Amino acid sequence: MTQDTPVYSGKAKSLYPTGRAGELLVRFRDDITAFDGVKKDVLTRKGSYNAQVSARLFTLLEEHQIRTHFIRLIDECSMLVRELEMVPLEVIVRNIAAGSMVRNYPIEEGTPLDPPVIVIDYKDDARHDPMLNDDIILALKIVTAEELSLIKEIALKTNIVLSRFFAERGITLVDFKIEFGRDNGTMVIGDEISMDSMRLWDAGSGASLDKDVYRFDKGDVLEVYRQVTERSLDRGEKT
Ligand code: CDP
Repeated sequence: MTQDTPVYSGKAKSLYPTGRAGELLVRFRDDITAFDGVKKDVLTRKGSYNAQVSARLFTLLEEHQIRTHFIRLIDECSMLVRELEMVPLEVIVRNIAAGSMVRNYPIEEGTPLDPPVIVIDYKDDARHDPMLNDDIILALKIVTAEELSLIKEIALKTNIVLSRFFAERGITLVDFKIEFGRDNGTMVIGDEISMDSMRLWDAGSGASLDKDVYRFDKGDVLEVYRQVTERSLDRGEKT
């Protein structure tokens, strides 16, 4: 059912038509990039690890009445999704200070953030995803005030569900980014939730289990992605 030409190709995923109105096929590629695409590589099986973890987490959210675009996995690196009218926002929820929070503000890495901090960036690579605030979001008419409060509510609920899921598997959810789109006017989670879009630390050792391993050459990124996949799919690895 997949045609050869993608309707859209991003840094790590490509979207294909399915022949059915309102549905798309997302293929998670083996490309990995960091720092706005300045650093890039191809890692065999990386796409399949991210697809499988995304599918597991989307299913988990749906079980908690959080709506996503996920329909089902088609093969180990492709998923069928509902087509959304995407909103150009990157909605980040932070439980622990790390990454840009530490680079940009006087706060030490590892500082717990309670309540969690929501940061919303404008999804625009050419502008390096500048941070927004509520007034700018409304001035740019990206979403309505009602949609914005719904987005924050869904993001916080998602944080509770994902934090518990990973804690049960010996992993701390430090922060994550999600994207939203409208499905017939309803705000739902789209894109992916994977090791590329979350910051995960091993609860025991504190070791990075996410794209930071690639960004900062902290070790064998493929092995780390494999481990998170095994632990997320409950295939027994706890360390
Ligand atoms: O990762 P970096 O320090 O550049 O940015 P951040 O603002 O600390 O990122 C917070 C979380 O959002 C991390 O888990 C990132 O992996 C994720 N993120 C993402 O998936 N895509 C982006 N364009 C920016 C952040």
